[in-house]
Order: sequence, then structure tokens, then C-alpha cells
Amino acid sequence: MGIQFGGDYNPEQWPEAVWAEDLKLMKAAHVTTVTAGIFSWAKVEPRPGVWNFGWFDRVMDGLAGAGIDVCLATMTASPPPWLSRAHPEMLPEGPDGQRRWPGGRQHYCPSSPVYRSHAVRLVEQLAARYAGHPALTMWHVGNEYGCHTRQCFCEVSAADFRRWLRERYESVDALNDAWSTAFWSQAYGDIDEVLPPRAAPTFPNPAQQLDYLRFGDDALRACYLAEKAVLDRITPGVPVTTNLMPQHKPVDAFAWAAHMDAVALDFYQDPHAADDHIRAGYVFDLMRSARSGQPWLLLEQAPGAVNWRPRNGPKPPGAMRLWSWQAVAQGADAVLYFQWRQSLGGAEKFHSAMLPHGGTDTRIFREVAALGAEFAALGDIAGTRSRAEVALLADWHSWWALELDSKPSTALDHSRIALDHYRPLFEAGVPCDVVPPDRDLSGYRLVVVPNLYLLTARDAERLATYVRGGGRLVVSFFTGIVDEHDRVHPGGYPAPLRELLGLRIEEFWPLDQGVAVAVGEGGTTPHRRNREPGGPYSGRADLWSEVIGLEGAEALAHFTDGELAGRPAVTRHSYGQGAVWYLGTRLEPALMRALLDDVRAEAGVRPLLPGLPEGVQATVRAGAEGQFLFLLNHGDAAVEVPLPAAMTDALAAATDAEGGAGPTDSVTLPARGVAVLTEPAAGTASTPAEGS
Ligand code: GAL
Repeated sequence: MGIQFGGDYNPEQWPEAVWAEDLKLMKAAHVTTVTAGIFSWAKVEPRPGVWNFGWFDRVMDGLAGAGIDVCLATMTASPPPWLSRAHPEMLPEGPDGQRRWPGGRQHYCPSSPVYRSHAVRLVEQLAARYAGHPALTMWHVGNEYGCHTRQCFCEVSAADFRRWLRERYESVDALNDAWSTAFWSQAYGDIDEVLPPRAAPTFPNPAQQLDYLRFGDDALRACYLAEKAVLDRITPGVPVTTNLMPQHKPVDAFAWAAHMDAVALDFYQDPHAADDHIRAGYVFDLMRSARSGQPWLLLEQAPGAVNWRPRNGPKPPGAMRLWSWQAVAQGADAVLYFQWRQSLGGAEKFHSAMLPHGGTDTRIFREVAALGAEFAALGDIAGTRSRAEVALLADWHSWWALELDSKPSTALDHSRIALDHYRPLFEAGVPCDVVPPDRDLSGYRLVVVPNLYLLTARDAERLATYVRGGGRLVVSFFTGIVDEHDRVHPGGYPAPLRELLGLRIEEFWPLDQGVAVAVGEGGTTPHRRNREPGGPYSGRADLWSEVIGLEGAEALAHFTDGELAGRPAVTRHSYGQGAVWYLGTRLEPALMRALLDDVRAEAGVRPLLPGLPEGVQATVRAGAEGQFLFLLNHGDAAVEVPLPAAMTDALAAATDAEGGAGPTDSVTLPARGVAVLTEPAAGTASTPAEGS
């Protein structure tokens, strides 16, 4: 099927006369797929129950005629004005009780039966009308669930929350117990007394807030599932997806992925952030892992600048190509953009598009079309998969609980901490999966737990079993502290991990903003010397420290100044057939890298390619069609990359008029350069042969 290439297509923004040109230019840009109709509700149902599909039939037929596939949106992301006028109770409310009015988009309460029933009715019409249409290849439900309306706190949501609580707890006593309501006189006599955690004079009950985050995610997913049920019934066999967002707190990507036939992501790199490709790397790995390695779809990205950051830098020449290939290198089988043709009016007229205001004679259109040609030439990549020996754990429940108020420190930012742990692996060129704690870990040589404040006793036991069986594990501070109801595990921190880690944390000692402490040798406990003299783990650390008492673990580094001077900061504990490292602070990046390099060496995890120059990312995807080695130069200077064996630059071969050079044992990558290498075809020389 090849790599899908295209973007959001919003023809209702344009007179019909423009559509024929759209098709012609899409073909010129090698577009294979569009996502159509995302915001078309008001046009296809201009009045309640009055359907106006004729224009959309012509759009679908035109696309089919041009051989362009449609990932058809269910059009439910922005309800029409008549609906909220007739039913103002479907509008969402914030925690302050303030209504969010129409005029933007996503102005619906996810629990609203009015919204859901009208959405389902529309989807029934759409599915029945376009079932079997030659252009229809996939369904795109809603759009970016929880992007603007993350949670709703209205009366309708309150009633739905109480229904959810009754299913979860069955009795008010169980709820009181789970929420620790004995504290601050919060005990409920009846579940009917429960409200959403609306703005209160002080911290609302944390377990209530945590459940409300779970409920909010479930409410959004119920909207998605209601539409999906219609689609599965009327168009069985047509895959269904929705576009997830990166590190998006309201939506648990792992829970959603179980209900998506293919995982899809929108990712808007920030050209002003020097290392945003590392954030992209983390998110792409998570998307690939969400359905255990199944190829995923990059459903939206910007061809150039966005319009919603305070300062919107364009993607400089080559960046869009590089970052698009990065998605493919990390498992994507589709690269699409928002949007096909740049709007003249509305809120996104200064957002870049594949076809800019300036038309085809623009850098953006040329770069888009050239990239489309590259993907068209290397379609065999689609369907191939990659392998990783390292897993990084991520868990939305822990994220939700961690970032609630009333903690030792509110500076613990889940997304930032995840990247602190991902970066040293990415920079070392080590492939990595990002998986939830209940995934089978036995196939990994190394598992990294950035911070799992909330850890169930069962998941803690799974980590212990993994290490007992020979696994290598890294665990960072403030992990394993509370259970699923945000109640501290009794028995000294972190109770369910104490035996595994071989230590006890007596006191948390978070560091103030801007304060760093030194770590190194010189503690009061025996120091394990496993590094060259002069090169122990010494440097700076910030954000967090804690009083660690060793109970079998050995210290690899101590705090060497500040209040905790002399106490362990980093430890190692042999356990069963394996070993576990523990970090009681946030090490500065170079130190973190040194530690993880050593841990990897002990775990037997090597980078994909030896001698990879700094700034170059390497990944492999393999399948029946062969193996593809991707090299991506994120640096700003040209580099030479040695190859493990003579390989063919398939990208150059496919796109060069000359057919590219023959097999080579090294590649020169310009700044922002990309190479896709394959094993030489049988019969070609195994040594570099100029111009063959
Ligand atoms: C996404 C959204 C698109 C468009 C885009 C602009 O969040 O799904 O409809 O608004 O952002 O970057």
C-alpha cells in the first residue's frame, strides 16, 4: 500500500471551482490520501435533520476519480450553532462553573447525551451514505479529543460522574475508603452527594481529582466509542482511528490505542526549540509501542509555521523533510499535514499549508512535492517494524496523580522527567520502546522507570519479577509512593519496591528552584568504584533529593554538599539474577548519560550503530521486503557516517536521475540530511563502486 502522504482537506472553505485544481495539484504533490470533512457538520446538516450531502458526494467522487484515498472524518468535532442554541446544556463548563461558549470549536460536554446522540445520528448518515465508496479507506473519528475541552464540570457531567462512581465502587463506603474522606470531614452518606472537583476554597480531595481525570478520559473515549460502534456496524472492515496528541494529559494513549485499528498522532514540532526532535522521538516511540510495534500514522503536522504559539517560526529548508522522515524512521506509515490549502479567512489563515497563499511557486509547495516523490519511491517501507531492547515506562494514572497539588514539590513535571530519561538513550543511538507498566517486560534487556509516583502493588511485583529473572532496571526518585487511590503505601517509602531496591527513603528533600547540589564520591557509606579514578559519577543535580538508607544496595554516588552531604544519591542493588539502579535526584544531563551508558553496558545493550556521530539518529525497520537503515542528521553540520557493511542509498537511488551511486560503506549527510539504506541487491559489488 505504500506510505500514505497528504493532509486535511477542507473543501467547504472554497468555491467548487477550486476543487478541480485541488485534485490536479494534489497529484502533482504525490498526495495519496486526504482526511476530509473534519469540520463539515454545519454544512452537511445545516438544520436539525436536514441533510446536505450533495456537495460532499462530489468531493468524494472527485477524489476517487483522482485515485486519492479518503480517511473520512466523522465531522463531529465542532457542533453547528443550531445545536447549542437549542440545547445550551450541551456546552461545557470549567471548574469555576463558567460556561464555554460556541464560537471556536470543541464546545461540547463529553457526557452530554444531546451531543452524543446528534453525533451518532450524523455518523449513521455518513456511514450509510459512503459505505462502499471507492475513496473511503479509513475513518477519522472526531478530532483531537480533549484538545480544548479537556474536562467538563457541568451538572450533566456531575450526574455522569456519579454513574461512573457507582460502577467503580458499588457502595458509598468503598468510595469513602478509596478517597480517604475521613480527612477534612468529607465522608459521604450517599454517592448522590458527590460533585466534580470544582474550584474549592483549597485543595480539592486528591483521590477525587484523580478519579475525575480517569472519568474525564473515559467520557471522551465514550464519545469516540459511540461513533466507532456505528462505523463498525455499517462499514465493517474499514479501519477506524482518531488523532492523538503528543504528551496529552487528558487522554491515556495506551487505553485509547486498544480501541484504534491504527494509532494516529498529530505532532507539531517547534522550530524554535533546538532539540524538539528528541521530544518527537519519545512521542513517536510511544505511538509505535502503543499497539506493540504496529505502524502508526502521522495524521497532522505543519508544512511550515503554525499560528498558535506566541512566535511562530517557519521550518527552515530541509527541516520538514527531516522531521517527516523521522516519523517514518520511527515506525509511521503515513505522513499527513494540516492542511491542504491555506485558508484565506478564519482562525488559521496564518498557519502554513501544503499549498500556501503564494501557490505552487513557493518553497513549501516544492518541498512538499519533493517529499511526496520520495515516499512514493520507497513504498516498501510500509508495514516494516523495528525492535528495541530497552523499554521506558509511562503511565497516565501516575502522571495524573503526580501533578495534583499538595505534594512535596509541584515542580515534578511528568513530561519533562520522561524526556530527562529518554534523552540519554536517544543521544546514545539506542532504540527504545515506551510502554505501560502492565506490558510484558520479559523481552527487554533494560527497563527504565522515569517516575511512577503511583504504582500498584501488582505492577511493583512485576518489576521485581523482571529483575529476579535477570532484567536490568533503572528507577528514579518518587516512584512507588502511592496506590491507585493516591494513598501512601504503608511500610516506609517506597514500600512495594524497598526489597527490590535494597533501600528505604526516610525523608523527601525537594530542592528549591535554581538550587543545585553536588554529587560524587565521599559518602559515609561504602562507595562502589566501578569507574576510572577521576571519573566517578560526579557533577550537579537538582530538583529533588532525599534521605536514602541503604538496606542491601550500595551507593554509586553521594550528595557531597548541601544538607544531605555524605548520604547516598545513586545506588545499585543486585537482586535475583538481575540488578536495579536507583536515582534519588535529577542528575545533570552529562552525568545521567554516563550512568545510563554504564547501565547499558552491564545490560548488554549496544547502540544500533557504533561510532554514530553526535546529532545523528539511526533506526532500522525490517520486514519481508528487506531491511531499511535510516540515518537522520539533526545537527547543523555535514557528517560522515560509517556503515557496518556496504549498503545502497535507496533514497538517492530512487530519486536521482542518475539512479544514485552503488553500494557504499559510508554516507555523507549534509546538515538536516536523510539517508535510507538497504542491503545491496544480489550481484552488486560489495565494495563501494563509483557510478555503477
Ligand atoms: C490541530 C487540529 C487542526 C489544526 C491544527 C493547527 O490541533 O487538529 O484542526 O487546528 O491543529 O496546527
